[in-house]
Amino acid sequence: MARALYNPMGTTALVTGASSGLGVGYAHELAQRGADLVLVARRQDRLEALAVDLAEKYGTVSTVIPLDLTAPEAVPELMADLTSRDVNVGTLVNSAGFGTLGSFVDADADRQAEQITLNVLALTQLTHALLPDLISAATLRPNTAALVNLASTAAFQPVPQMSVYAASKAYVLSFTEALWYETRASGLKVTAVCPGYVDTEFSAVAGNHQPTDRHLTVERVMRSTCAALDRTSTPPQVIVGKRNAVLARAAILSPRRAVLKVAGRPR
Ligand SMILES: NC(=O)c1ccc[n+]([C@@H]2O[C@H](COP(=O)([O-])OP(=O)(O)OC[C@H]3O[C@@H](n4cnc5c(N)ncnc54)[C@H](OP(=O)(O)O)[C@@H]3O)[C@@H](O)[C@H]2O)c1
Repeated sequence: MARALYNPMGTTALVTGASSGLGVGYAHELAQRGADLVLVARRQDRLEALAVDLAEKYGTVSTVIPLDLTAPEAVPELMADLTSRDVNVGTLVNSAGFGTLGSFVDADADRQAEQITLNVLALTQLTHALLPDLISAATLRPNTAALVNLASTAAFQPVPQMSVYAASKAYVLSFTEALWYETRASGLKVTAVCPGYVDTEFSAVAGNHQPTDRHLTVERVMRSTCAALDRTSTPPQVIVGKRNAVLARAAILSPRRAVLKVAGRPR
């Protein structure tokens, strides 16, 4: 069995989007590795149930912070809350995010703005607010600190019918890779995770009610993320699944028009 190089034991990890899907998966992984948790999302009942589950399974101490990250002062309020509780964050997982399906011309303007605010602005603000702490944790105790941002395979090409979502994930990928480079001397493990479809609430929230048989499991995304974090040199991006990796490479190497034609095909 591969040695677990990333060891957040005794540190605190903050997971956004911890009420569902991948955020729940990350909370379990981090708790299992001995981190205390700060759980952030809007649905307080889900976060509290997760905190109980983590305490029972791993003896984890969790701080539950119900918060709408699209609210104007959400990130400064979250930071003030962490300071008042004397919580020092060593790992940040930005998993909160959503997509919308449909042509842009018909899309609800407020919902699009909310999507950009959550997927891009809140992620950027929270990363900016916590990055100094993550870097000092990485410097002080090597291999204990990480920044994991949820991008997507949608980040590798424009996606008609999900135009704002794909653009927001292209931002997350580019932003995270740049931070990987900027912080490389600190030892902070920085990576953008790029799954394809995962079986979570994501599709229903996006308004896609067609079942797909080609989806990843949360466990599969966790395995790929952990394998990346456990490497001496964590890669700036993790594409989950061999087929997705091939398709992402093809999108990068092919002419943009051809890529658009494929990405725009009705699913
Ligand atoms: N599932 C996929 O196919 C897939 C593929 C590639 C990338 N991703 C990315 O992976 C991440 C996690 O998605 P998922 O699959 O786990 O989806 P999910 O099951 O729908 O979970 C999304 C999480 O985001 C939280 N969230 C939504 N709006 C929020 C807000 N305004 N403030 C705070 N939290 C909010 C939700 O909690 P509340 O509703 O309780 O606030 C929930 O915990 C997202 O960034 C997504 O774009 C997903």
